[in-house]
Amino acid sequence: MDKKFYVTTPIYYVNDKPHIGHAYTTILADVLTRFHKMSNSERKEDRSFFLTGLDEHGQKVQQAAESRGMDPQAHCDDLSPRFINLWEKLEIQYDDFIRTTQPRHKNVVQSILQKVYDKGDIYMAEYEGWYSVSEERFITETEKDSGDFRDVKKLKERNWFFKMGQYQERLIQHIDGHPGFLQPDSRKNEILGFLKQPLSDLCISRPKTRMDWGIELPFDKDYVTYVWFDALINYISGVAYLTDDAKFNKWWPASVHLIGKDILTTHAVYWSTMLFSLELPLPETIFAHGWWLMGESKMSKSLGNVVSPLDLVDEYGVDCVRYYLMREMVLGQDARFTMESFIKRYNSDLANDFGNLLNRVSGLIGKYFNKTIPAVDKNTEAEDRIKSTAEKLNDIVPGLIEKYRLHEAIEEILQVVRGVNKYMEQQAPWKVAKEDLARAGTILYTAGEVLRVCAVHLAPVMPKKCEQMNRILTGDGLLDSDWGGLKPGFQLESHDALFPRLEMPKAQ
Ligand code: MSP
Repeated sequence: MDKKFYVTTPIYYVNDKPHIGHAYTTILADVLTRFHKMSNSERKEDRSFFLTGLDEHGQKVQQAAESRGMDPQAHCDDLSPRFINLWEKLEIQYDDFIRTTQPRHKNVVQSILQKVYDKGDIYMAEYEGWYSVSEERFITETEKDSGDFRDVKKLKERNWFFKMGQYQERLIQHIDGHPGFLQPDSRKNEILGFLKQPLSDLCISRPKTRMDWGIELPFDKDYVTYVWFDALINYISGVAYLTDDAKFNKWWPASVHLIGKDILTTHAVYWSTMLFSLELPLPETIFAHGWWLMGESKMSKSLGNVVSPLDLVDEYGVDCVRYYLMREMVLGQDARFTMESFIKRYNSDLANDFGNLLNRVSGLIGKYFNKTIPAVDKNTEAEDRIKSTAEKLNDIVPGLIEKYRLHEAIEEILQVVRGVNKYMEQQAPWKVAKEDLARAGTILYTAGEVLRVCAVHLAPVMPKKCEQMNRILTGDGLLDSDWGGLKPGFQLESHDALFPRLEMPKAQ
């Protein structure tokens, strides 16, 4: 993982009230970035770049602004802090936050339109078809018949079109030749299936007479740019395409665009063909994750106030929610959020396994070593074995992260934690201490050090709690997974349980 890592989230509609979907992708991007920063052998901060932001143009924004009697820009400025504040609360460390109404973005969109137009890839035509107001795009006859679209009307309009269809074959070849491009495989197959039908050209303009909240076409001032053509460009305007070559060449192509499965076609097809036209390389990976479904359990109904896992942040803390979301969803598949699954996961992994191990180790060191970290006397095979499980994480975790198998990476770390709990049971340092204090010291040092190494590996998921654990055990916040961070002679301070057990709320 020594390569550079450029990760993006979708830019979210500024109108939307931030919800679990937005939070999930953004936490995921944050976690992946933190893993990359940590496992980079030179630990260079500037080897990763994490971009997120807001999608601020289009009809829905214009309508919402009108209904508030506001100028659309003022409306966007008013709403954007909702996202920015949530990211702060969720401990998101992005490198840049792009808004499509910023001049740095608008200028690049216009330059791109001009380039693509000059190349002959944009033409004007009259089009009559079904238009979905809620989706803000023309839909096909089949889509209309599916009944999935509300607010559909017949529209006849002169518009500008991007010659997307001509890139169909090239796109298929690219997908076939780059197995990691569309992930997971099920999504790749979905797109390859879609590309079996002839690919039509893409309408990329909206007449100002109908909608004018968008970026004006540089070659026709009566039109603004279609919101998706504008929005996708953020992935390159955000790394200074056409304005700072050194910066752009450093980051582009992106390592991964993280998206939800519902916006796969726009990314895999629209964006890829736009990049073909611009003669730019395609992102290495587009990863489409599944959806969080809200649970329908009796329990969650009784907890009427819990409408979203985001509500749990204030009550249980950000780290536990990040842990739950990252551990519970198999990347690529749907997952169901229920209050029971949250509490179960928290109690088993965090309270019983991870948190309890800290309590045991620090409690026993308190009791038998006057709170001072003991030295290792002589390792036996048991110590060598448990130590090697911890050291192996240095390879296992980055390997899984690179393959986007995040929940497995977390599980591997937890397995090591469980292994230490078992080791404690088997070695019973509380008994050994009565006859052989040096041996008890070796056991407790080993258990504490493996725990500390696990906390370092989990820090990208739970930055605050893991740093706190490291601080309790070593007195400093420096996170380093190399063996030997625990220093004999260091005096532990008393601490509260980091993950107190939660009671399952009673159904009413
Ligand atoms: N503005 C576009 C993206 C443009 S990117 C160039 C957009 N915005 S959005 O605000 O609707 O984005 C929502 C994101 O959240 C999408 O990736 C979508 O898949 C995701 N989710 C929305 N609800 C979700 C869940 N319940 N669960 C997980 N993610 C889901 O689309």
